[in-house]
Amino acid sequence: QWTTSSIVDEQVSRIREQIGDGKAICGLSGGVDSAVAAALVQRAIGDRLTCVFVDHGLLRSGERAQVERDYVAATGINLVTVDARERFLSALAGVTDPEEKRKIIGREFIRVFEQAERDLKAEGDYRFLVQGTLYPDVVESGGGAGTANIKSHHNVGGLPDDLQFELVEPLRALFKDEVRRVGTELGLPETIVQRQPFPGPGLGIRIIGEVTQDRLDTLRQADAIAREELTAAGLDRSIWQCPVVLLADVRSVGVQGDGRTYGHPIVLRPVSSEDAMTADWTRLPYEVLERISTRITNEVAEVNRVVLDVTSKPPGTIEWE
Ligand code: XMP
Repeated sequence: QWTTSSIVDEQVSRIREQIGDGKAICGLSGGVDSAVAAALVQRAIGDRLTCVFVDHGLLRSGERAQVERDYVAATGINLVTVDARERFLSALAGVTDPEEKRKIIGREFIRVFEQAERDLKAEGDYRFLVQGTLYPDVVESGGGAGTANIKSHHNVGGLPDDLQFELVEPLRALFKDEVRRVGTELGLPETIVQRQPFPGPGLGIRIIGEVTQDRLDTLRQADAIAREELTAAGLDRSIWQCPVVLLADVRSVGVQGDGRTYGHPIVLRPVSSEDAMTADWTRLPYEVLERISTRITNEVAEVNRVVLDVTSKPPGTIEWE
């Protein structure tokens, strides 16, 4: 019998009680959970909340703007963006192993975030850390880099004294669909509230091979086209997510205009799923596939072939790395 607005009221008063006149920090990932958690806390304590957004350079096109512009416009939240793009690129130089990439991205992410926490603590009495932990995370805490690591590393102890925080977790009793409703109630943009899952290590694990600036630019363009066309076709709600993968170490021969090309393939991996534990490949309409393929091969210089992944999970995982 809980209505969304009563959940909001209840959480806002709990947060006020917990934080009193203290100050809080929240890491934003661009995803739903951290965005809704922060918006609730902002509603409770206003500008005594500061959000930190790390741009690791592995984001999709427009994601930073969604946070810096749209989310801030909707909430009026204090936001600090840390531009760590160079740092992640150099840490990833020469690395091709998927788990190695994850480890590096997770480790750098924590270092950058902790430095941001230190900087804030030097300026004010920040004693609280907001996390977008959901009920399913409480029951079974998942791993992974990025947001998942923000969630876990503050709980494991062993942190230096200057980085001790009391956790604020306003979503602990909620499921994802309730979180989305709370986000809508709080006036957050659709692009954030309805965002499909996106892995913390971002495009770093969607480039098969070494991550470089040029490859990121290529993948970002192809991914933006695929997303644009899927959205235009009204398919966002029926697809769980659609990784777009660059086979950076593979080349194939093509022909374009009057010349031979020798470019890279892009893989489309649309999946349908309930919880990402299992998944089926989504039977996308041929016209949509055709538009995506034509546009990617015309508009993205390095790409001369688009292929469709028709593997279920199991045996294939959703991501390629
Ligand atoms: P897989 O590829 O294991 O993916 O079938 C299942 C779901 O998890 C996401 N995923 C990740 N999320 N850090 C994350 O935060 C990661 O390292 C990671 N790897 C996979 C994936 O996008 C899918 O939703």
